[in-house]
Amino acid sequence: MDSEPIHVLFICLGNICRSPLAASVFRRQVARAGLSDRFRVDSAGVSDYHTGEPPDPRMQETAARHHVTLRGSARQVKESDLQRADYVIAMDEENRAGLRSLSAARGGAPVHLMRAFDPETADEPDVPDPYYGGPDGFEHVYEMIERSCRALLDHIREERGL
Ligand code: 4NP
Repeated sequence: MDSEPIHVLFICLGNICRSPLAASVFRRQVARAGLSDRFRVDSAGVSDYHTGEPPDPRMQETAARHHVTLRGSARQVKESDLQRADYVIAMDEENRAGLRSLSAARGGAPVHLMRAFDPETADEPDVPDPYYGGPDGFEHVYEMIERSCRALLDHIREERGL
């Protein structure tokens, strides 16, 4: 059996809203499946706009309503993150494009879009950036991330025989 943890890396723009939420939601689902020792889950941002800052308080509040705690502080993604990760999951097309220059040199894992796993996606490829919107946007983002992470975990379990 492969004992190296499966490394899942979630990416957004600022690493203060969507990707920290996705990492915490996914970690909870992994824990509930009894698979915590098989996964390493992390997040980072394409930009350095918020490096060192905690998750956005609006995202923290939304997460807390769903009994999810966000952790860590924002950091910008590095090429080595992309080399090490088994699954790189970007929140939107712009994030994915931003990663291309960093990952061009490697032949590693492809970058997936989070909503490619969303069973309720309706031709909308992106988890929308909630930063400049109202509180409804954060709840909407929570729901699509919860659904997408569930399907992502199913996908990885099937692919890895877990
Ligand atoms: P995130 O949200 O990418 O989900 O963390 C954003 C955070 C900050 C900014 C944009 C999006 N910003 O422009 O500062």
